[in-house]
Formats: sequence, C-alpha cells, structure tokens
Amino acid sequence: MVDVERVLDEAGLTNTYVRDYVAHWAGITGADNVEVVSASDDARLIELALASGELLPAGEGSYYSRSYFKDTARAEERTIVATSNEADKGTYNNWRPAAEMKPKLVELMTGASQGKTMYVIPYLMAPAGGPLDKFAAGVELTDNVNVVLQMIRMARVGVDYINHLGDDFVKAVHVTGDLPNLGQGTPDDKRYFVTVADERTILHFGSSYGGNALLGKIAHGLRQGSYDGWKNGFLVEQFMLLGITDKGTGKKWNICGGFPSASGKTNLAMTLAPDALGDRYYVEFYGDDIAWIWVDDNGVLRGFNPENGVFGVAKDTNEKTNPTAIESIKPGLGVIYTNVAYNEKTQAVWWEGRGDKPTDLDGWLDWKGERIADRAEADAGADWAHPNSRFTTTLANVPNVAGDYDDHEGVEIHGIIFGGRTRDREPLIRAINDVAEGVYDGLTLGAEATAAADGLEGVLRYDPMSMRPFMSYPEADYGQHWLNVIGKATNNPIFAHVNWFQRGDDGRFLWPGYRENLRPLLWLMQYRNGEVTGVETPVGVLPAREELNLEGLDEQTLADLDTILTIDTERWQQEMGYREKHLAQFDGLPEEIWEAHRRVAKALDDA
Ligand code: GDP
Ligand code: PGA
Ligand code: MN
Ligand code: MN
Repeated sequence: MVDVERVLDEAGLTNTYVRDYVAHWAGITGADNVEVVSASDDARLIELALASGELLPAGEGSYYSRSYFKDTARAEERTIVATSNEADKGTYNNWRPAAEMKPKLVELMTGASQGKTMYVIPYLMAPAGGPLDKFAAGVELTDNVNVVLQMIRMARVGVDYINHLGDDFVKAVHVTGDLPNLGQGTPDDKRYFVTVADERTILHFGSSYGGNALLGKIAHGLRQGSYDGWKNGFLVEQFMLLGITDKGTGKKWNICGGFPSASGKTNLAMTLAPDALGDRYYVEFYGDDIAWIWVDDNGVLRGFNPENGVFGVAKDTNEKTNPTAIESIKPGLGVIYTNVAYNEKTQAVWWEGRGDKPTDLDGWLDWKGERIADRAEADAGADWAHPNSRFTTTLANVPNVAGDYDDHEGVEIHGIIFGGRTRDREPLIRAINDVAEGVYDGLTLGAEATAAADGLEGVLRYDPMSMRPFMSYPEADYGQHWLNVIGKATNNPIFAHVNWFQRGDDGRFLWPGYRENLRPLLWLMQYRNGEVTGVETPVGVLPAREELNLEGLDEQTLADLDTILTIDTERWQQEMGYREKHLAQFDGLPEEIWEAHRRVAKALDDA
C-alpha cells in the first residue's frame, strides 16, 4: 500500500479536503503509486513518457502521441450530466440521477489503476487571483502521464492554486481503463464520462483522448463551469475571445464568440490582419475555446479565457491559412501532437492541409501507427492524419497572445458573435442590436451536420450557442440566465451572426475565410460605433457592399460577394419553421425569446 500521507506531505499539499479526496480515490483505483505534480515537473515527466514510449520525439523539443484508434474524439453519447434533482434534466445534457451514476463509476474504477501511478494534478481554470478562483480550482487524478503533460500545457498547475481554498475545488477523477476492451461504439460500451454537477465531481472512465480526459478543460471549464455560473451569476461558454486594435485611433475592441467544435474558433482567435490592410490593425489572442463572462460592478461585460493553452485542430493548418498557429507550434516549444502522421525515421509530423504530401514514404506511419508504404491499393487515398488530430501548446507560445491574457480582471467585451458551418442562408455577417434577439440567435445556432452526426449532410443540427455537447442544465434556464446576465450590462455589447462557409453551386466556399474574416469584424465594430449604417433586413443588419473593406480581395470573391451579403427570404421562412420545433423542445423558454422569434418571423413575412 502506498503511503499517501507521506507523498502529500512531501509535495506540500496541505489542504485537508484535497488530502482526504486523494486518499479516498487512491484506495478505490488501487494505484501502485501516488504522485503530486506541478508545472515544474514537465521536463522530468516528458523524459519518463519518452522512455516508456507513451510519447515519441517529434523533432527538437516537440512530441508525438497516438491515442487508441477507437478513442480519437469526444464521445457525446457516453457523456452525462448527473445531479440529485430531476429538474436539472435538459434536452441535450443527458441527465441521469447522481445516485444511479456514482456507484457505476466507482465500480468501473475499482482497482482499475493497479500497476499504475495515480498523478494528482492541482489546477486552476482561470488567470489566478480573482474572485472566480473558487469556481476555477480543481484537482484531477489521472493514471495517464500524457494527460498530465497536456494538463500542464492547458491549465495552470501546482499545489499553490488549491491549498488555500478549503473544499472549493472540483474533484475530477480520470481512469483510462483497458482501452482495447471497452467496446467503444458497441451496445456493450463500457465508457462513461460523468459530471456530477451539484456535487462538483467529475468521473471519467475509458478514454485517453484530450476532449474526454483533460478534465480541467472541457468537463470542468465548460460543463461544471456553466452549472456553477448558472447558480452564481456568470456565463461559461465554448467561446473564443480576441481583441482588435486600430493603431490609427488606438481604440481596442474585444469580441468573443461561439462556433461548434471544428468550426473555426482557434483560427479566428489566432488570425492576423490580412496583408492587404497593411499594419493598421493589430489582433490579439485571448482564448480559442472557452470564455468565462460576467458583468462587473460598473455594469461592464467582461470575460477571460480560463485556459492556459491551445488544443487546436491540425487539419488545414499551414503557413497560409494560419501562420500564427505554425509559429506557436515551431520546434523547441514543448508542443505535443496527437494522432497526426509521424515519420519514425526523421521524427517529422504531417497532416492533411499541412503542405505537399511527402513523396518519399520511407518511415511514414499514419495516425493508427500503420506503415503508409505498406498500405493496400484500396487504402491508398485514406487520410494520413486523423481529421480530429490536434496540437497542444501553451498560450505563451502564441505570438499574438495579448499582453494581459493572464489578468483575472479579464477584458471588456464589445461584441458577441455566433457562427457555424452553414452552406446556404446565413450571410457573411448580420448584426443584431436587441439583447433578446441576440440570445435567440445564439439559441437557434445551426451548424452543418457532417457524415459523422445523425441527419443528412447539409441538414442543420441545432447547437445552442455552440454549447450542445457541454450543456449542463435545462436550455430554458440557460436562455433565461443569458437574458439576466447580458441584461445587466450597460456597455452596449453587440451581437452578430457570422458565416465563413457559404458555398456556391459548384461547392466552392464563397468567402476566402481565415485571415480575411477580420474584415466583417471590423465592419461590426464600425457599425457599433455608428460609423456605418448597414442595410436593415428581417434577420439583422448586413454590411452595405461599400462599407466592407474589400482591398486586395480576388476577382472571384468580389463576384461572389453579393450572394453572401443578401438574404434569401424564402429559405429563411422555411428555417423559421425548423426553429419553432427546435425551441419548442425547451419547456418554459422565456417569453422574451419567443417574442424575438415571432418578431423575426413577422419581419420575414412582411418583407
Ligand atoms: P475550432 O475547433 O472551432 O477551434 O475550429 P478550428 O479553428 O480549429 O478550425 C476547424 C477546421 O476548420 C480546420 O480544419 C480549419 O482549417 C477550418 N477553418 C477554420 N476557419 C476557416 C475559414 O474561415 N474558412 C474555411 N474554409 N475553413 C476554416
Ligand atoms: P475545439 O475544441 O472546439 O477547438 O474543437 C475541442 C472540443 O470542442 O472538443
Ligand atoms: Mn471546443
Ligand atoms: Mn479550437
């Protein structure tokens, strides 16, 4: 039996609530060793992981890992929010009674870490020192060293973040399980990813993929956080957060926004001003996946990014689409790649959209670890990297990270945008002035279903404010909570809906996207400042063509522009019927939201 007391003493972990929790779970999981980690253990643990083969070297100061091939993405159907109050059951949160789920997880975890080390990761999901610390602190227990290394990059890690907090910390237990024998995706699936929200306890069993295993990030930073925010007056959202400074006037605008996973948040937050706009604008990165948002004592809407790193989609990341991302993953920065293609001889990594595919196949392994040179003819065209392959890097490595990203005061928020992959109907940008209409717009955010989601390709899957996979409480309460929080803000935040993904008849994207996405955001801030008037439509205010900065855009884009700056009224009227059914799922939705819906519907009918 491991002497837990001695280990905790040596690590200076004095918080008695944390000590009891660690001892309790060390007993259940049956780990051979217990070890408390902090960020300063990184180099030693990297060496350990390289020695055990859990990491492979990927060139100078970069690392490579492969997760089990049936364990490469978040498993939404196995993800559950459990509480002791059935009133917490929503449409998307997969609610179950806590009394049913806790014993299941204890049973699955019993003895499941035998032969392994249980790492104790005290962490903070916030820039330290602010009033939200007590909601942001947690202690993840994991039996997976790669999870520790990724947590060190994605969160602030060390005992000093939790020693003074008493029992104000999230208990976050992660047990990897026997991955080849968990029946992933079969009727006998043994995985469970449970957040017991009213006990601030997270129990995840059966994965080592980041989205299921980095409990600080998604289970706490989003699911638990949003539940706590609901009870305590703040918002927790799957939002990026960026700042735009006009160097000419010195004015700075901060915009946050929600797009569903793999719909462009990281790319937008890392964007740079397009070359064509010269160096007039400076864009600062605050966060790419989560924002915690509140109204301060002066009525100002503020927000911060609770994370300390970026867990970005690798696909299509290259010097042209996202030079900032390429800079933040260059050699020597301690980056960890997951499930990209790897060359075991040269230690190079590659993914679809990285640049020319290597022609010399010698040494190349695909994301499953299979030799590409040995592929059967029929598999020759298969992806080398998994489409959800990722890079993990810290915020400090991002060249355009804001100077004040680590300030717990956060920044003033001037704009809130929603977006997703929508191949028709949604224009490039439409501004929404009314708070209830803005919240309504978020609640009816629709993103294109891919072949991986149920529904036909091209059909919308509604994803309220991009929180569908992270929703922790009923959608009607969520809508009301949004109205309450934003309703208190007196600094006039503006809403907008954006779409970078409208397509032409031949399937091409009508808008070049990426760095060019700054242009509609600049228009939005000018509109908020009253510098442009835009064109009123039933669904919001669109830029007049001449109000958008079009410098340097190519001929094809200029020709396509009218399409993405107009509203297809008939298509929108059809959409209103779908929205009505979508919203009707949410019992007790605030009347203000229904009124907003009816106003938009009427405006479309009158158009
Ligand atoms: P996130 O998961 O929401 O953070 O999305 P990412 O920024 O990682 O982008 C997901 C995928 O969409 C990546 O493969 C990107 O290359 C691609 N993407 C991001 N922004 C754009 C854009 O403006 N236009 C197009 N066509 N693709 C984009
Ligand atoms: P993403 O983050 O939104 O950048 O894809 C991870 C996730 O949501 O699973
Ligand atoms: Mn996300
Ligand atoms: Mn992202």
